[in-house]
Amino acid sequence: MFTLNQDSHSQDKPMFYIDLAQSLRNLLGEERDPIANMANMASLLYFSLPSINWSGFYLFDGQELVLGPFHGKPACVRIQMGKGVCGTSAINREALMIENVHEFPGHIACDADSKSEIVIPMIKDDTIIGVLDIDSPIYARFNDDDKNGLQQLIEILLFATDFTLPVQTK
Ligand code: SME
Repeated sequence: MFTLNQDSHSQDKPMFYIDLAQSLRNLLGEERDPIANMANMASLLYFSLPSINWSGFYLFDGQELVLGPFHGKPACVRIQMGKGVCGTSAINREALMIENVHEFPGHIACDADSKSEIVIPMIKDDTIIGVLDIDSPIYARFNDDDKNGLQQLIEILLFATDFTLPVQTK
């Protein structure tokens, strides 16, 4: 049985993410299946990060982003590259931290409670796999410590998992 670290909320953020990285390595273990690993990572993040209301993945199918494993309310299924926070992050291959999603042009609202958002692109062998998306019900929830910590977690996921690279058609 996997046990969540319940003390982690009182740590400073860099230390919190170091512990979370070890939890993720333990959770993934020897498993290399992408659905299983993304599903467990989405759940780990949902129950470990304070003040968030959605965590999950959108995967690039060669044309657009398609909803992957997540934890939270049901979400929109398809996002065009370049659209919304996720599509913008994916096409530019850069992490985005949005302090107030209502001020982001083209933001796609899936949960009316979401006020801030962070999106981390997943890049393997120079190919975009998809993005990690996390929403928060408070403004300006995420800072550079979150970005650095989550990028490290994505590196662990990519290294530990057999992702099939999409055929890029565009
Ligand atoms: N807000 C995202 C859409 C996905 S939901 O937040 C789960 C966006 O603008 O791309």
